[in-house]
Amino acid sequence: MNGRTDFPSGFLWGAATSAYQIEGGTDEDGRGASIWDTFCATPGKVQNGDTGAIACDSYHRYGQDIALMRELGLNAFRFSIAWPRIVPEGRGRVNEPGLDFYDRLVDELLAAGIRPFVTLYHWDLPQALEDAGGWPERATAEAFAEYVELVARRLGDRVRHWVTHNEPYCSSWLGYAVGVHAPGRTDEAAAVPAAHHVLLSHGLAVDVLRRESRDAQVGIVLDSWPVYPLSDDPRDVEAAWEADGFRNRLFFDPVLRGHYPEDVLERLGATSPPIRNGDLATIAAPIDFVGLNNYSRTIIAANGDGGPRNVPATDAPMTAMGWEIYPHGIYEVLARLHGEYGVGSLYVTENGAAFPDVRGHDGRIEDPERIDYLAQYLGAVARAIADGIPVHGYFVWSLLDNFEWSHGYSKRFGLLYVDYPTLERIPKSSFYWYRDLIGAGRLPQPELVVK
Ligand code: FCB
Repeated sequence: MNGRTDFPSGFLWGAATSAYQIEGGTDEDGRGASIWDTFCATPGKVQNGDTGAIACDSYHRYGQDIALMRELGLNAFRFSIAWPRIVPEGRGRVNEPGLDFYDRLVDELLAAGIRPFVTLYHWDLPQALEDAGGWPERATAEAFAEYVELVARRLGDRVRHWVTHNEPYCSSWLGYAVGVHAPGRTDEAAAVPAAHHVLLSHGLAVDVLRRESRDAQVGIVLDSWPVYPLSDDPRDVEAAWEADGFRNRLFFDPVLRGHYPEDVLERLGATSPPIRNGDLATIAAPIDFVGLNNYSRTIIAANGDGGPRNVPATDAPMTAMGWEIYPHGIYEVLARLHGEYGVGSLYVTENGAAFPDVRGHDGRIEDPERIDYLAQYLGAVARAIADGIPVHGYFVWSLLDNFEWSHGYSKRFGLLYVDYPTLERIPKSSFYWYRDLIGAGRLPQPELVVK
């Protein structure tokens, strides 16, 4: 057996989800409205008019989901807490039934021998806070710290792994500048303070978690696709560096180095982040790990004016999202975070692929492309570990098919197929493949990987 494909003992084998994407039950037990409820109700924003009102109904079916996780052999489950279930108006009144729900979920996971890996913000801001200005307002960061304190006080005796934020780039840039995510604003002058306040709230939350959750392992989840220049023409190289600045370094540098990248600040000019004294020290509070979400890579060429332009990969294998399958990219980002940024502990908190899965006449779902994708990316992760990069766990996105944001239910990422009319969960062949991998703790030899 080739030792390079072994995973260390104690490795966390997980699957990842988020509240709005799986829970449903959006009107139940006192939950307040979130920006995603509003965004979904806005015509033209989400494919097919889909919403998270029912989603996978995991709010009611979590017991069944945990039984499936046991069958899969997971020892960790990444899920997020819906802020509007805990503080329906974003600040002030606490909704105890919301806390009770996550209390039960945590207890049942622990009873099943599965570690809860809890994300505190996976994009479902209470609508009331957006009405008061949203993430561009500093008060939203303060409200986040108050909410985190409530959750940590309730769950901090049992939850050890905490993620403050999922993908700050998406919640700030895609939500406030590009507008393809809630709240759907298209104003760069709002996105920059939004990013700053998301990062600030991360730092405030680290402090709260250290106080309220003994022995907590606290981290943040950053999404990163490595950015490659189309050619070695210096103009392409410069444009790729610019794109990397907005996409990666704008988030890596403040959290891991305590300052914003100079070249990005220069480009932003008058729309620079509203930094107050002490903010950068708060944002750069020491953390215990970084979670990496990686799916693909970006190729950049220079426009006529020298600015960056995305170039679609040609002749490359793609997933149903139109994302290029590029397994070496995950290795590169892990190596960068460890080598350039000195991160001492890493998890792959999301990686996976959407394909147009169909249920065959015999009721089975064969998804060899997903198995192939996972095998290749996990091979790259195993190589990173063999090269001394400290990766301590891997979470497949996702446990089950779910609400894929503006794509609605049209993109299936799960190891479990969800038959939406009946909400039945059916294991795909990748489910059994992952189960066997977890059991063995090592990847099969390349020639044994099912194609
Ligand atoms: C990530 C999100 C996650 C999911 C995957 C496909 O950016 O964190 O919720 O939508 O993409």
